This record gives sequence, structure tokens and C-alpha cells, in this order.
Amino acid sequence: MTAEKYFYLETFGCQMNVVDSERIVDMLLEIGYRQIESPEQAGLILVNTCSVRDKAERKVYGHLGRFKPLKEARPDLILGVGGCVAQQEGEKLLSGLPYLDLVFGTHNVHRLPEMVQQVEQSRKRCVATEFQDRDTRLMLFPNRSGRNTVTRFVTVMQGCDNFCSYCIVPHVRGREISRPAGEIVAEVEALADQGMKEVTLLGQNVNSYGLKGGGAESFSDLLRRVHDIENLERLRFTTSHPKDISDELIDCFRDLDKLCKHIHLPVQSGSSRTLKAMNRGYDREQYLDKVRRLREACPEIRLATDIIVGFPGETEEDFEQTLSLVEEVGYADAFLFLYSPRPGTAAAEFGETNTAGEKQARFDRLLKLQHNLSEQSWSADVGRELPILVEGESKAGQGQIFGRTTWNRIVNFDADSSLVGKIAKVRITRNFRNSQLGELIA
Ligand code: SAH
Ligand code: SF4
Ligand code: F3S
Repeated sequence: MTAEKYFYLETFGCQMNVVDSERIVDMLLEIGYRQIESPEQAGLILVNTCSVRDKAERKVYGHLGRFKPLKEARPDLILGVGGCVAQQEGEKLLSGLPYLDLVFGTHNVHRLPEMVQQVEQSRKRCVATEFQDRDTRLMLFPNRSGRNTVTRFVTVMQGCDNFCSYCIVPHVRGREISRPAGEIVAEVEALADQGMKEVTLLGQNVNSYGLKGGGAESFSDLLRRVHDIENLERLRFTTSHPKDISDELIDCFRDLDKLCKHIHLPVQSGSSRTLKAMNRGYDREQYLDKVRRLREACPEIRLATDIIVGFPGETEEDFEQTLSLVEEVGYADAFLFLYSPRPGTAAAEFGETNTAGEKQARFDRLLKLQHNLSEQSWSADVGRELPILVEGESKAGQGQIFGRTTWNRIVNFDADSSLVGKIAKVRITRNFRNSQLGELIA
């Protein structure tokens, strides 16, 4: 009799990692493992890692440390690391962490089952971090049409060629490739047939979809094709790079009913000088011009952004430009990050010019401004009747369900779960920091 085999998987980082983790789950189920929620009983523990900021990376080491006593108590436990830290560190992880068994990088997720089996059979530790060629990668795009949920992420492109001077992603995810449009459309169709209502097209930089070959058509053409899919109610995409957002894509917000009125358009800084040092490929005016055109095409559109505070060379004046841009755009949400030097990136050589205290003080000022803007933006919804795509039971349970507005805001309200997958009409009654409360309109 073979004993039951259990795995425990922890995921850090962005949606790319979440999608990779779903793939990992599918593959491990196929080789006879079952997923459990606690590491104590698992025979296989995997951590899918992120290295975008120093803090994210340190978290990984902290987490791995937690598993060391488990490994000491049960030497047959298999411990593996995947994702962006794995890609970056490779072999070094194995030598630094003697209790680790396997390391798989971002282009080798598909090899995990074979690696696990190798360790099971021979206890030989292994590493796979080589980048795959284009053709292999095109065959390896995750297709997860077997999953049945209301909303899904579907990967349309991978990698990044932008090399923003601070960013590790191009180094750990490799060159940009676009998945053929026909394949994407087929996957979304299959998912919609199984009951999926909303799709988010995913890529590190979806706006350059098709520009490097492979996809053969532009991102706006792809959006229009996906929009035509019957049974699909809503369409989103992430992430957009401001330099590549075309007029045709902006027009989609005017023309396509299913396209949600929300865009994540990371600006990073409001100072043209800083943007240049970041190698972002646009300046303040060009960014603001795109925002103006988006609002012309779709007056109700709301924007979210990412901002880095304390980039090398950022002066008080540069920072004030960021404050003024944030105010001018009036973002509904902004994700703020303290600059963190990443080894191997261009900016790591610039040398930091701001003290930790200065960076933190700027961060706090920006956070305060953004809190006010978010509050203004979201509290305007109170009293309005909005269509909510219901995703499931809310965390609070007790007859409460949740869904999202077109602006991607979570709304909790009392109703039974027969509404899951349907668009409900809900009056917003209260606004909280991260969600809203509503009541179902009969
Ligand atoms: N592809 C996405 C970004 C992915 S990383 C895009 O271009 O929009 C997510 C965010 O992390 C970035 O937008 C940036 O704001 C932040 N970030 C990336 N590298 C960073 C670093 N070295 N220090 C601080 N923040 C960083
Ligand atoms: Fe990083 Fe820039 Fe690529 Fe985004 S566009 S992943 S910030 S290099
Ligand atoms: Fe992190 Fe890798 Fe995503 S570095 S943000 S998990 S691409």
C-alpha cells in the first residue's frame, strides 16, 4: 500500500506567481499528491517566491527558516523553492540552505513533477534555472480551462523587456513573449462555457502584447476579440505600461461595454527627471496626457497606480512633483513603495541619496494624501445603485455574499449564495478602507 502524499504550498508576489502556483497544484495532483493547509503534515513543502523588493525577499528567507525544524524532525520531507528568488539565486540557495532539496526558476515550473520524483527516489538535490527558448515557452503558457470559477486570470504575455532601472522583473522573468491570440480566445471561451463571467488578461506589460511577434495582433485587437465572447460579462486587464498604451486601447474604454471602467496605470513618479532616471520611457506631461485621453473616452474611469518613493537622486522638489501629480490625477487607489535597491539592476549602481528617515517621511506624506483621495473617490459611491458581479460568500459568512463593482471595489451585502455568478443590483450604504457595504435591491 502506498501512503498518502501531501504537499503544502505558499505563494508570494504578483498574479504571475499566483497563476504559476495554480499550475503547480494541478501538476502535483497529477502525480498523486494532495494539497493541505498546514506544513506540519506535508511530505512536500514548496514556497513560490518574489524578489521585487528587499522586504519581499527577506520574507522568503524568514519563511524557509520556519521549515528547518520540520526537516530536522523528518529528514524525508522534501523542501523546494520556486519563483523569482529561485530564478535569481539558483544554486546559491542550495549551498546557503543545506535543508533545501530543490530550486526551480520561473521558466522551469513545468519540470517540477520530474524534480520532485527525482528527490523522492534518489534524495539528490536539484536546481533548474535556465531560461527556455521562445518556442518552448510558447508551448508552456498555462492553460487552466478546467477550473470553474466566476472570475479568472488568463495569461496573455510573459516577461518584460522594459528594464526600468530599479526593477528585477526583466532579470527574473526573462524576455517578453506574447501568446497567440487564438489560444487565448479559445481558453476564455472554454472558461466562459463553464460559467466564468469575468476574465482579467494578465501580463507584466499587456500593452506591448503582440509588439514583439508571437501574438501577431495588437492588444486592442485582442481585447475586441475577447469582448465578443458570448456568456462573458466583464473584461479587465493588468498591468499596463503608460508608454505603450495606444489610442486604440484607450478607445476600447469608450467602445467596449464589458470592459470595466478601471485601469491600473503605474506612474512611479511625478517628476520627469526621476522618470528619466527610472528609464520609464515617458515624462510627466505624456503621462497626464494619457490620463486626459482615458477620461475623455470614459468619463467614469477610475485609476490606480504604483509609486516608488525615495528613488536615488529624488529631491524634495521631485517628490513634490509626485504629490502634485497624484492630486491632479486623483487616483482611486495607489500602491506606494519605498525604493529598494535590487542587485543586478542599473539603479543599484546609482547609490542612494536619501536617508531612510527622509524616505519614510515622504512616504508618510504621500500616504496621507492618497488616503484622502481614496476616501473622496470611494465615498462618492454611497447611496448609488451599482451592478455587482457576485463572486461568492463573504469572509464574514452568515448570509453575506460579496462581489465587485466595475471599479474593482469589493462590496459585501446580505443575500443568499444563489446569486453567485450573477450581476446583482446593490445600493452602496457604507464605505470602508478596503471594501464597501451594500444592500440588495429587490
Ligand atoms: N509590471 C508592472 C510592475 C511589477 S512590479 C508594471 O510595470 O507596472 C510592481 C511594482 O513594484 C512596480 O510598479 C513598482 O512600483 C514596484 N517596484 C518594482 N521594483 C521596485 C524597487 N526596486 N523598489 C521599490 N519598488 C519597486
Ligand atoms: Fe519592472 Fe518596468 Fe517591466 Fe514593470 S515595466 S516589470 S516596472 S521593468
Ligand atoms: Fe515578484 Fe516576480 Fe511578480 S519578482 S512581483 S513575483 S514577477
